Amino acid sequence: MGAPASAAEVDWLEVRGANLHNLQQLDAAVPLRRLVVVTGVSGSGKSTLARDVLLTNAAAAVAMRSTAAGRQAWDAGERPAWAGCAKLLGIEVVDRVLEVDQTPIGKTPRSCPATYIGFWDTVRKLFADTLEARARGYGPGRFSFNTGEGRCPACEGQGMRTIEMSFLPDVKVPCEVCHGARFNPETQAVTWKGKNIGEVLQMAVDEAVDFFASMPAISHPLQLLKDVGLGYLTLGQPSPTLSGGEAQRIKLVTELSKVRDDVGRRGQKAPHTLYVLDEPTVGLHMADVEKLIRVLHRLVDGGHSVVVIEHDLDVMAEADWIIDLGPEGGSGGGRIVAAATPEDVVRLGTHTGKVLGPVLGRA
Ligand SMILES: Nc1ncnc2c1ncn2[C@@H]1O[C@H](COP(=O)(O)OP(=O)(O)O)[C@@H](O)[C@H]1O
Ligand SMILES: [Mg+2]
Ligand SMILES: [Zn+2]
Repeated sequence: MGAPASAAEVDWLEVRGANLHNLQQLDAAVPLRRLVVVTGVSGSGKSTLARDVLLTNAAAAVAMRSTAAGRQAWDAGERPAWAGCAKLLGIEVVDRVLEVDQTPIGKTPRSCPATYIGFWDTVRKLFADTLEARARGYGPGRFSFNTGEGRCPACEGQGMRTIEMSFLPDVKVPCEVCHGARFNPETQAVTWKGKNIGEVLQMAVDEAVDFFASMPAISHPLQLLKDVGLGYLTLGQPSPTLSGGEAQRIKLVTELSKVRDDVGRRGQKAPHTLYVLDEPTVGLHMADVEKLIRVLHRLVDGGHSVVVIEHDLDVMAEADWIIDLGPEGGSGGGRIVAAATPEDVVRLGTHTGKVLGPVLGRA
């Protein structure tokens, strides 16, 4: 951690002439491949700068540069129509832009952590590779709970049945045919290490990490889920039942599992991603904040750039760089009162620096 060592080693993303909401001709520089935290009192302009200006225009630039024609135009000096600022500089080194929020990871109960993160396909192939599955002629499709021959026909692989009640909310009851197993008896006859595919879906992440220890493609993302404090989730828990904080961490795990994949690919550089998170600690317990911070550091260690809007002092204390907006909210704000390391923000004595001081001293 620590400050960007020297200006020469750091690429900067520069917003020039931001002019939106309460921002007035604001210039801001964001060090890349660092954990950058945008701070300031409510209404000081954090979301306007980080999301409405930085994220929006970075996404426009990346989109333009993603096609051959767009790239050619870019190289000839053309730029997208910048929104809310005069221009954005230094975006060429960024390959991808992504906002990670607390919105649900899937709206249908057919989505679950295993399918969202993507290792469920590998689990299905593993089952299709068993002697029993081969003898029965079952391919990976047989082990899907969403389609095909293998799932319980009564509940269509949901394990639950929805009973419609007139004038009352629908009631979910366990399927009376599979009793929550989600697969039909023939599919359940195929086992790997003594468990059938339905039992795997009901396994908690904590248990599954050990169960799949010999299969890194499966155990690695599971370990990441455990690392971010989601070891208690079951692999098949329907996405709509996840909390906002859980959904957000699953998105981050999905990103982290890609970091590893990219490193694995011979000599290929991971696509440098700019992540933007607007107050990700909202609704999180202190212990979960710590886990979130660890994930953010790992993304930066993987060569990515992270911009977080935060009021949480522990997150600020962990920042490589702070952009402090203010001094007040609304028309009394919209200016950068400090752009420095956490230690220097404390020294500068801004509103943020004053409350951050005791937290840094504690460390
Ligand atoms: N869509 C909008 N239209 C007009 N004013 C806005 C809009 N969004 C935010 N503002 C104003 O801009 C200022 C900065 O807002 P915002 O960037 O959301 O602050 P922060 O994220 O720091 O709490 C506030 O005074 C807010 O009322
Ligand atoms: Mg905001
Ligand atoms: Zn059923």
